[in-house]
Amino acid sequence: MAYPVLFFCLLLSLATAEDGHRGWLRYAPVPQTGSYASFPTSIIALNSTRSSPVYTAGQELQQGINSILGKQLSANSTSEKTFSSIIVGTVDAYAKSYGEIDEAEDLEEDGFYLSTEGRNVVIVGQNERGALYGAFEYLSRLAQGNLDAFSFVDNPHAPIRWVNQWDNMDGSIERGYAGPSIFFRNGLVVDNTTRVAEYAKLLASIRINGIIVNNVNANATLLSAQNLDGLGRLADAMRPYGIQLGISLNFASPQTFGGLSTFDPLDPKVDAWWANVTNQVYAHVPDMAGYLVKANSEGQPGPLTYNRTLADGANMFARAVEPHGGIVMFRAFVYDNHINETNWKNDRANAAVEFFQDLDGKFDENVVVQIKYGPIDFQVREPASPLFSTLRNTSTAIELQITQEYLGQQCHLLYLGPLWKEILEFDMKADDRPSKVKDIISGERFRRPLGGSAGVVNVGTNTTWLGSHLAMSNLYAYGKLAWDPALEPEEVLQDWIRLTFGFDRQVMNTITNMSMQSWPAYENYSGNLGIQTLTDILYAHYGPNPATQDGNGWGQWTRADKFSIGMDRTVSNGTGNAGQYPPAVAQQYENIETTPDNLLLWFHHVNYTHPLKSGKTVIQHFYDAHYEGAKTAQEFVKQWASLKGKVDSERFDHVLFLQTYQAGHALVWRDSINQFYYNLSEIPDAAKRVNNHPYRIEAEDMSLSGYKRYSVNPFHAASGYNAIPHSLLQLVSTRPRGVWIPFI
Ligand SMILES: *[C@@H]1O[C@H](CO)[C@@H](O)[C@H](O)[C@H]1NC(C)=O
Ligand SMILES: *[C@@H]1O[C@H](CO)[C@@H](O)[C@H](O)[C@H]1NC(C)=O
Ligand SMILES: *[C@@H]1O[C@H](CO)[C@@H](O)[C@H](O)[C@H]1NC(C)=O
Ligand SMILES: *[C@@H]1O[C@H](CO)[C@@H](O)[C@H](O)[C@H]1NC(C)=O
Ligand SMILES: *[C@@H]1O[C@H](CO)[C@@H](O)[C@H](O)[C@H]1NC(C)=O
Ligand SMILES: *[C@@H]1O[C@H](CO)[C@@H](O)[C@H](O)[C@H]1NC(C)=O
Ligand SMILES: *[C@@H]1O[C@H](CO)[C@@H](O)[C@H](O)[C@H]1NC(C)=O
Ligand SMILES: *[C@@H]1O[C@H](CO)[C@@H](O)[C@H](O)[C@H]1NC(C)=O
Ligand SMILES: *[C@@H]1O[C@H](CO)[C@@H](O)[C@H](O)[C@H]1NC(C)=O
Ligand SMILES: *[C@@H]1O[C@H](CO)[C@@H](O)[C@H](O)[C@H]1NC(C)=O
Ligand SMILES: *[C@@H]1O[C@H](CO)[C@@H](O)[C@H](O)[C@H]1NC(C)=O
Ligand SMILES: *[C@@H]1O[C@H](CO)[C@@H](O)[C@H](O)[C@H]1NC(C)=O
Repeated sequence: MAYPVLFFCLLLSLATAEDGHRGWLRYAPVPQTGSYASFPTSIIALNSTRSSPVYTAGQELQQGINSILGKQLSANSTSEKTFSSIIVGTVDAYAKSYGEIDEAEDLEEDGFYLSTEGRNVVIVGQNERGALYGAFEYLSRLAQGNLDAFSFVDNPHAPIRWVNQWDNMDGSIERGYAGPSIFFRNGLVVDNTTRVAEYAKLLASIRINGIIVNNVNANATLLSAQNLDGLGRLADAMRPYGIQLGISLNFASPQTFGGLSTFDPLDPKVDAWWANVTNQVYAHVPDMAGYLVKANSEGQPGPLTYNRTLADGANMFARAVEPHGGIVMFRAFVYDNHINETNWKNDRANAAVEFFQDLDGKFDENVVVQIKYGPIDFQVREPASPLFSTLRNTSTAIELQITQEYLGQQCHLLYLGPLWKEILEFDMKADDRPSKVKDIISGERFRRPLGGSAGVVNVGTNTTWLGSHLAMSNLYAYGKLAWDPALEPEEVLQDWIRLTFGFDRQVMNTITNMSMQSWPAYENYSGNLGIQTLTDILYAHYGPNPATQDGNGWGQWTRADKFSIGMDRTVSNGTGNAGQYPPAVAQQYENIETTPDNLLLWFHHVNYTHPLKSGKTVIQHFYDAHYEGAKTAQEFVKQWASLKGKVDSERFDHVLFLQTYQAGHALVWRDSINQFYYNLSEIPDAAKRVNNHPYRIEAEDMSLSGYKRYSVNPFHAASGYNAIPHSLLQLVSTRPRGVWIPFI
């Protein structure tokens, strides 16, 4: 009876090795039923070249099925079918061996056809990448215990489905909360690409097809001969997964790196320099996806230095990659960060449209303008960027952020699917016709050849990839929505839960509940009614600091004073931002009556006593929402704790630690924000909570032994301006930020 014992040991080792590094591709064993008896006995992958995604698909099917069902299938590239096989390949390869299939004509680029209805399982991709997507889809269904007979064609909503890493050459990551880079170290590309290939596998399984590996604040040393070799290595590691590599460029490289006297995009020497560099890059990475460029933004160099347009700048790169079939993603995040708040009509939210509206139609065909979802910067609530409806003759992509830069930095649970969905479904009503953002970025609405999504990700060397097990639902949902924005975020989440944590109903209900409440909860305690995330915007982008919003040139203003708050973005009396939207939407936002409460302070400046549609005043809503949001965050701890024994202890403990931390930090948020606006407005909380905490023992009132007292900055993060480190802090401080847990 040696075999069952061995099998038991195998299960045991799987159950304990839950460090998260396999993400949602755990291929955990599923309870088996009778229908598994007729399961195919072999895999035929119609390409034996090791770098082929079709070959990868065969290997992945073999390993996945072995792990999920305990069945060892042979994997072969020959066309000889056994009695029942899983056949995976491109539509052309399939036709050559087995004849045409009718569904093939419905396939678009990267699409696939998957059928389990006949004796064989047929997985056919329009291209090699599509075949791999079909294999991952089949495995995902098996891993979720779905053995139904099905047959369907699945095509992407948009051709560009990329991620952007903000990794620096020294190995640090801008807004990196999960350890250092898996791509770079000490100024060079890493030698060991094991993690890179593993990441590519995760990305391929959610149908991502491109990755920019370095920070948009780019360092030209990436173009050194040694690093070009390195880029070749990275591309080789990811090619078997159908992931194409691209890079961010520094606009001034011809001067700072190439030794030219200029980087003027219309200077022929500069053009020739970029053409040469681009040829070198393609010599190392023949299938390079393209370039990403951040120019004239936050101190980065760009074409405006030479009085050239942003289109002149973008087209210079477009000319260089065009012969190689590459594209240029050009960021619309261009604004002046020294604007004067004294002028009521100044508004950073207007910048993108102002910079780009006259350039519509002036970009080369292989340029895509990459637009952040809202007009400011990844805030907890923003309207969709009006630039999506301004550019009619330019391809566009939406930029989303899996990295929770302003949204709790992966220490707070925040499932972003619902936020993204709301933006993607938003109807711009351009020319009074249906114009959802999702159909604009796909190219469909304005008949553009290119378009799609770019998701900023801060995957690092941490075994959990993102520093938090639960944050991985965001990466999963990003890929799924980029492929098909019609999906419901809650269903996507539940697929992810099944794949990540298994089939227990309580686990499913609890994580669903927590995740679906997480955005409203964070919005409630961090900044509501469209006022933005009231975080420290000057440095950490973490923790409450409403005082940093105003009084500087960054333009994330609240214009809060003793009586009133909000940005007046009306055309009639304010910055005119509402007027940047097509007329029907403009009218809605111009009028305070038709502006939804959750964007009230984004578009209007009102008194704290202004009544909302709910009947509450603005200030009372602030107070109540902050208590409510923080209360929900306390519930998360209890909810997660109820899963003890139902989730392996490694992941259980890690999540419990983060939820406990979030619960404490949510109280800090609640009290800082409420105290700040109470001090400013002097309007008391009708429920008498704010500025009134009789149950608290203040640190300054205690005699402390063995603790050191610290003054807290920003001051309102603690009553009495002082804090002592809680025991949690010892753990927390291993992460890269200075957070004080005030003694409350
Ligand atoms: C097999 O895969 C390689 C690498 O992706 C590709 O170049 C080749 O065209 C493929 N062969 C067939 C028959 O599809
Ligand atoms: C592949 O197929 C050939 C021919 O059918 C067979 O001889 C061989 O054993 C198969 N290889 C594997 C690994 O199953
Ligand atoms: C660019 O990278 C080089 C080599 O790692 C480093 O010395 C330099 O400081 C970096 N430049 C910037 C602006 O980060
Ligand atoms: C490469 O990295 C992987 C995982 O990060 C590790 O397991 C492996 O030992 C490393 N290989 C070498 C040659 O260092
Ligand atoms: C092209 O770039 C390579 C590598 O950077 C360099 O060695 C070469 O001199 C350049 N050629 C021209 C014509 O600029
Ligand atoms: C910049 O270009 C504009 C329009 O082409 C022109 O009016 C202006 O004089 C130029 N400024 C400089 C400094 O060259
Ligand atoms: C902002 O504008 C006001 C009024 O025009 C002016 O007094 C003030 O000096 C300006 N502030 C800065 C920093 O330029
Ligand atoms: C769109 O731009 C192209 C140049 O890229 C131009 O030829 C065409 O006329 C423009 N179309 C419209 C409708 O503006
Ligand atoms: C990963 O991150 C978690 C949480 O921040 C931390 O506890 C752990 O030590 C990290 N592990 C690695 C290997 O980086
Ligand atoms: C869902 O969340 C609410 C509020 O936090 C809580 O009252 C309820 O018990 C939760 N339900 C489940 C199934 O966890
Ligand atoms: C109109 O704008 C001025 C500033 O120019 C502001 O003080 C006033 O409150 C605004 N009026 C209304 C009705 O919002
Ligand atoms: C807003 O408050 C100011 C100061 O108390 C007051 O003068 C003004 O009438 C109020 N506006 C409205 C619309 O209530």
